[in-house]
Amino acid sequence: MGSFSRSSAIERDVVKAEPLRSFLRLLRPHRGRLSLATCAFLIKDSPAWVLPPLTAAIIDLVVQRGALHTLWMYAGFTILLLALNYPFHMIFVRGSSRATRSLAVDVRNALTERMQRLSIGFHNRHSASIVQSKVVRDVENLELMMQQALPTLLSTTFTLIGAVVITAVAVPAFVGVFVVTVPVAALLVRWIRSRAILQNETFRHEVEKFSTGIGEMAAMIPLTRGHGLESVAARRVAGQAESVSIAGQQLDALNGRFGAFSWVSYQVLGVACLVGAAAASITQVIPITPGQVVLLSTYFTILTGGIVNLLNVAPVMTRGLESMRSIAEIMEEPDIEVNENRTSVDTVAGGIELRNVNFSFPDGQPALLDISLVIGVGETIALVGPSGSGKSTLLNLVLGFVRPGSGQVLLDGIDMNTLDMRSVRSHVSVVPQESILFEGSIRDNVAYGLSGVSDARILDALRGANALDVLDRAGQDGYSSAAAVNRGLDTIVGDRGSGLSGGQRQRLAIARALVRDPRILILDEPTSALDAASEDKVTDALKTLFRDRTTLIAAHRLSTIRSADRIAFLDGGRIVELGSHDELMALGERYAHIVGQQNR
Ligand SMILES: Nc1ncnc2c1ncn2[C@@H]1O[C@H](COP(=O)(O)OP(=O)(O)OP(=O)(O)O)[C@@H](O)[C@H]1O
Ligand SMILES: [Mg+2]
Repeated sequence: MGSFSRSSAIERDVVKAEPLRSFLRLLRPHRGRLSLATCAFLIKDSPAWVLPPLTAAIIDLVVQRGALHTLWMYAGFTILLLALNYPFHMIFVRGSSRATRSLAVDVRNALTERMQRLSIGFHNRHSASIVQSKVVRDVENLELMMQQALPTLLSTTFTLIGAVVITAVAVPAFVGVFVVTVPVAALLVRWIRSRAILQNETFRHEVEKFSTGIGEMAAMIPLTRGHGLESVAARRVAGQAESVSIAGQQLDALNGRFGAFSWVSYQVLGVACLVGAAAASITQVIPITPGQVVLLSTYFTILTGGIVNLLNVAPVMTRGLESMRSIAEIMEEPDIEVNENRTSVDTVAGGIELRNVNFSFPDGQPALLDISLVIGVGETIALVGPSGSGKSTLLNLVLGFVRPGSGQVLLDGIDMNTLDMRSVRSHVSVVPQESILFEGSIRDNVAYGLSGVSDARILDALRGANALDVLDRAGQDGYSSAAAVNRGLDTIVGDRGSGLSGGQRQRLAIARALVRDPRILILDEPTSALDAASEDKVTDALKTLFRDRTTLIAAHRLSTIRSADRIAFLDGGRIVELGSHDELMALGERYAHIVGQQNR
């Protein structure tokens, strides 16, 4: 609940048009911790601007041959100040790290929750890798922004204030000099370095191109090897690697040149400040002591350095804010499935009716035209028709993934638009066109989303789905003993179902549907062909699955179609024939024609 309310707060707080404000709003829950961290930083970082005046005082003490006990006092103070650095640094790190890391967790949870509410249409439009990079990379950029920009920002601000205040007290005449020279010096150094930025970007693009190339190569390996094109793929990668190397060398040389150049200019400016202050001291144009000469020259260096650092974290800030915008895109995406304030159903009988349903995809092409169909409780309807005729779309309509443009979809006589589809779907099982397995044990894959499912029930489902041979792979001794069965259920299958054949994957998906014991079953039969033995197994599994529940199946195989009570033949988004196998065969039109083709 806590994480949920935090997530909805983040959804409200994040606005694409104002990334910086959004980010600051995200930090709001952590403001106590961050204030403490800031105070700790002030103390731990104070030697940066307190040490120069101490050094100055000690030098003046030497010049004036002052008392030794004053020196001991200065020394004691310095050591105390330095000793404080460690504990306060740790307080700062703990506080800012807690804030940063929990911010990242909160944003990731909020993104995930939002994605789970976004419509299936949204997910069809956006590739999984974009969604993934938002949750992983963009949030990481926010963390980097906190980790790198915050200390620099604090350090520069405090040093600037501290140095200017102390200078104003010790050598008021020099404050004006600082105000003019420090920004100029910093901008000069920055300008020299920025010459290298272009080359940096070229290098980054080369690296990105390279990693895309590697990704492609890996994905295409089966095709490459199948066509004997290994050397072509290797040459392509080698060429890209060479480009990276050349860009890298150019970058290194350029960085070296500009690095040295900016170091020299930086030092020259420092010496100029030192000489200027010394000249002022000797001529007494401005009356300053030798210690103050050191003070001013040190301050000049650290102030210029601070501003340069600040300019250097600017790219991290830019990237972080860009990521903030990217995260906001998800938070602001309006295409969410609305379930709030809709009726929750406890039980579902399974009667489905489509009344004059029309549906078009956003690009305007109508996918379903004037569909009317009444499906009785426990009936099995097979949707048959050419590829692109609208079978999958009709199934998505019944699932509530897409809403009818006009007309109604009714469940047990109630318009589905008034129902909380999440509650409906807990009585529904889906076997999609592509069986989806995740990296995990067979047990977890079958029981996906259900808690406390006994092994016996899982085994029943696997048996019903004719899928016990999947376990058989696990133990040499088969599944005769309980231990072997357990080991079998623990077999890990890969994230794309690797290690399993197409038919095995399908039957696992059927077992997953069976174990939920749904009232309504939605099945999109894969178009891929199975061999006769697998097909028999799958057909038997489906017969078990269809028993006692309302079933809609987009079917391609005659064996599956034959096990349905009625058949709806779709073409171009319309139902052109409807009836039992025998009726449609007697009609002797489209359906009879394809049956004739398959039997040939
Ligand atoms: N996300 C989408 N955006 C736009 N048009 C789509 C989208 N999905 C499907 N379509 C179009 O809608 C029509 C029906 O597609 P659908 O997926 O329902 O066909 P199908 O009967 O399931 O085909 P198959 O047998 O090949 O699975 C097709 O013309 C298709 O091009
Ligand atoms: Mg389809």
